[in-house]
Amino acid sequence: MSSTLKKTSGPKGLPILGNLHQIKIDQLHQYVENWVEEHGEVYQIKLGPTKFTVITNPEIIQKVLKARPDDFLRLQKMDKVLRAEGVHGVFNAEGEDWKVHRRIIAKGLDVKHQQQFFPSIIKTLERFHLKIEGYCERNENYCIQNDLLRFTVDVTSSLVFGEEMNTLEQEGGVIQEHMEKLFPMIFKRINSPFQFHKIYKTKKDKEFDAALLEVDKLINQFIKIGRERIDANPNLKVEPENLLESIIVAAEEENVFSDKEIKGNLLTLLMAGEDTTAHSVAWAIYLLAQYPEIQELLHKEATSVIENSNFLTEYSKITELAYTEAVINESMRLKPVAPLLLMEPAKDVTINNYLFKKGEKLMMNSRYAAVHNDHFTDGNTFKPERWMRKMEHKCPMHNLDAYLPFGSGPRFCPGKNLAMLEMKLILSMIFKNYKIELITKPSEVTEIMAFTMMASNFEIKISKR
Ligand code: HEM
Repeated sequence: MSSTLKKTSGPKGLPILGNLHQIKIDQLHQYVENWVEEHGEVYQIKLGPTKFTVITNPEIIQKVLKARPDDFLRLQKMDKVLRAEGVHGVFNAEGEDWKVHRRIIAKGLDVKHQQQFFPSIIKTLERFHLKIEGYCERNENYCIQNDLLRFTVDVTSSLVFGEEMNTLEQEGGVIQEHMEKLFPMIFKRINSPFQFHKIYKTKKDKEFDAALLEVDKLINQFIKIGRERIDANPNLKVEPENLLESIIVAAEEENVFSDKEIKGNLLTLLMAGEDTTAHSVAWAIYLLAQYPEIQELLHKEATSVIENSNFLTEYSKITELAYTEAVINESMRLKPVAPLLLMEPAKDVTINNYLFKKGEKLMMNSRYAAVHNDHFTDGNTFKPERWMRKMEHKCPMHNLDAYLPFGSGPRFCPGKNLAMLEMKLILSMIFKNYKIELITKPSEVTEIMAFTMMASNFEIKISKR
């Protein structure tokens, strides 16, 4: 059998460092993409002593993602790092354990709950609109990423905890400032061959510990309030009103979650829901600022759907924002915030004639194929119309198997609908009322990988129509 199996090579590295000296870890995804031309769509790299098999072939990636949870696991190092920080939730659970987590979390994020929380999301959108009005009136340069992060924290915490945190109106000390210290450090520890912080803590390690402690305190407080609410109103055991209540009820009635798992899931949701959505919108704004004619098309659609208000207030109209959705799809094709998915086989598995051995570390990069002309016509160009039905003939190459911003298979992102709702609401509000231009030069905006792929800070000027 092994004679038919393909062999993989990769860029030559140094004995101990492997390829570490050739890369910047916060641009790892780009190095991985650049090496494909020379080494093929499946090849190996070494980060220190750790060997990774890089996969960029969309067919193999799809097969791996769909063969979960039985044949492939998330990288177990990720689980180790997350658990060491007390995070044990749906993202890093595996096997039967994962099935329980997934059922409860996916139910709390379903369309019914989304609809139920729509009024609270709209309140947050209204506050965001007021904040933008302030920037317009003062004619100030605007680093919109900060407020996008605050918007998504506010929405996620209202959906998950049933509490409106209103971070959009606060300056300093808000949960978002603690959260922003978590992702980069977790990503660094996952990719670092050595866990130096166990021996010596740098200033950044100490800041990370302090931020985690603050978030932990807040989550404990929410759990306490949630338990008190359920005790005071036993009806909530039958019809929980938010994810926190669903998780507490499941923990008590089905005896499935320990306190650690309750906390782990709440932290997972806060982390999974904040950066991903905020940075996806930031990337869309960065691209749109360079295409005034696309801003006009968004404005036209938003004006006809929203009519006299500043933003959408009817949940049922969200499906009418078809062009806005096309812009989001296109922006996530070029700038997916999760371009690297790290997995490992739970047993030896052969796919497309490659043998992936149990425990082998896999680094899957989906963006390489998503911007390649073999899969999308004019792959590197921002063309939202390729997602509109009547325009398909202009972009005949359109391989949805190569488009994976939310992952695929049984573990695809359960927050996709919520994220799409938030993104459509924000973009339609902005382009109904304003025009934007980039103050920072486009070439100075770089991709930074810190678990999610974010844009380096950029400034826009936002002006009223
Ligand atoms: C634009 C925004 C978002 C993007 C691009 C995104 C992307 C992803 C991706 C790529 C995965 C891995 C999927 C896989 O392994 O196949 C994932 C998993 C996950 N996402 Fe999202 N996500 C977004 C927003 C959200 C939101 C708003 C939430 C919830 C509040 C959320 C919750 C989760 C959870 C819980 C998982 C783990 C699922 C599991 O392992 O079963 N995500 N997301």
